[in-house]
Amino acid sequence: MMRVRLTVNGRPREADDVWEGESLLYVLRERMGLPGSKNACEQGECGSCTVRLDGVPVCACLVAAGQAEGREVVTVEGLAPEGELSAVQKAFIDAGAVQCGFCTPGLLVAADELLDREPKPADADIREALSGNLCRCTGYEKIMDAVRLAAARRSAEPEGDRA
Ligand code: FES
Ligand code: FES
Repeated sequence: MMRVRLTVNGRPREADDVWEGESLLYVLRERMGLPGSKNACEQGECGSCTVRLDGVPVCACLVAAGQAEGREVVTVEGLAPEGELSAVQKAFIDAGAVQCGFCTPGLLVAADELLDREPKPADADIREALSGNLCRCTGYEKIMDAVRLAAARRSAEPEGDRA
């Protein structure tokens, strides 16, 4: 058993009595009350649990909680201030890219990271950034539309005014 301290969505958090081998996903969902990251395959195959660890998208089900000690985690709950939607979240809704929604949190985190890194992504960049995120419902075309829309809207906004 150990104590793990990390920063989650900009706030210092800690979890006690974490057992060896417990995943970051479990800690976020079950100990920190952040159920946005979804738990589907628990094998790093579906991307529904995607979070950013020191900025980099990872499958939280594959990261041992102890590996996150002292690091910075951003979950889907941290993409926008509480009660608001980020540009990417709005675009997913407007483009009809959410059906059952199970894949959506992971896709949002991955898409957000892409747009931070590459504000005007080519379709190949979008496909690559989202290649670890499986969606059974949409056939991906609406997800592509959503990311293109978010990119277009973000680049139309004045600098410093971005959600
Ligand atoms: S639950 Fe982590 S990749 Fe599927
Ligand atoms: S919307 Fe259902 S899995 Fe993607």
